[in-house]
Amino acid sequence: MKKTLTLLAASLVMVSCSAEPRTLKDAFKDKFLIGVAVNQWQCSGEDSLGAATAKKHFNSIVAENVMKCEEIHPEENRYFWDDADRFVKFGEDNNMFIIGHCLVWHSQLAPWFCKDSLGNLVDAQTLRDRLRDHIHTIVGRYKGRIQGWDVVNEAIEDNGDYRNSDFYKILGEEFIPLAFQYAHEADPDAELYINDYSMNNAGKRDRYVKLVNDMKSKGIRIDAIGMQSHMGLDYPNLSDYENSLKAFASTGCKVMITELDMGALPSVNRGANVADKVAYQKELNPYPEKLPDDVSAQWNNRMDSLMNIYLRNADVISRVTAWGVSDGDSWRNDWPVRGRHEYPLFFDRNYNPKPFLHKYLNDK
Ligand code: XIL
Repeated sequence: MKKTLTLLAASLVMVSCSAEPRTLKDAFKDKFLIGVAVNQWQCSGEDSLGAATAKKHFNSIVAENVMKCEEIHPEENRYFWDDADRFVKFGEDNNMFIIGHCLVWHSQLAPWFCKDSLGNLVDAQTLRDRLRDHIHTIVGRYKGRIQGWDVVNEAIEDNGDYRNSDFYKILGEEFIPLAFQYAHEADPDAELYINDYSMNNAGKRDRYVKLVNDMKSKGIRIDAIGMQSHMGLDYPNLSDYENSLKAFASTGCKVMITELDMGALPSVNRGANVADKVAYQKELNPYPEKLPDDVSAQWNNRMDSLMNIYLRNADVISRVTAWGVSDGDSWRNDWPVRGRHEYPLFFDRNYNPKPFLHKYLNDK
């Protein structure tokens, strides 16, 4: 008996010693795609360390900024393709599942898009024509090369009302199915997604479930509901969040975690409304050098709980994407408070994986 136990113990030691370090994409390969938002410097290779981490660990990318309207279509008769082309090539060179972000969004919208030459809102037909041109041109250019599109971003308020964007003012609810129809016309094989923040809110959840069910009943293609998932240490409530995940899956769509980051600094607002910015204050930036161990432990525990939510719902989640490669790249260093030293991503400023990832990577 003693000998058997000794042998068993020896073989267990061997198993744990022989477990090879893995990459994130190996660790989650049977569960979901593991993605990352990349910026123009990673795609051009100027940021070689960021690019190397993206290539090593992730099998999907999304464009953090270069495909937003103000970047890619700054004037009515001018598109700017250089950065977007480099983004797509980066994904192709590295066999990644490539996501375009985003076709219709009120933020980072080129100022001309919904206005006439006097600055007044255009009429409904003019906006339909502009949307069709915008979506057909961009989706058409990358037909067969970009596998999925965030078609409409942030159309609904936290309470479930439609956001009163210029798109909504001019076209009403119609702008959403229209945008999906145009995208599907331009690339019938591309997956099409609707995406928003604060998806844990019941009002938003219910509205999206209804909206997606309506679109499906009308035969409009929609493949996934994207939960952005910009989080903090105290929001959202994770059971509300998991309830939304399940409610979205009940529509028959896949669920995607599209923009995951979790701030470790004092929170000043919830949600992720890009327009809600707060001026720098020293008290809001308490750890400019290093995250204290107790806060780091709190952050890692919460990330661990979140990964467990994703793993137990892996049958309905097709992708989990981090909104940036390393802490140094994150938009959360400037949002919601400008100029803070944040710690929201999977990799720290030296591209070391955070502790919650060690068990997946077998590297400790
Ligand atoms: C952010 C980018 O990360 C920043 O670089 C940019 O200045 C503002 O937008 N929701 C979205 C993303 O859908 O496109 C936003 O990205 C973050 C919130």
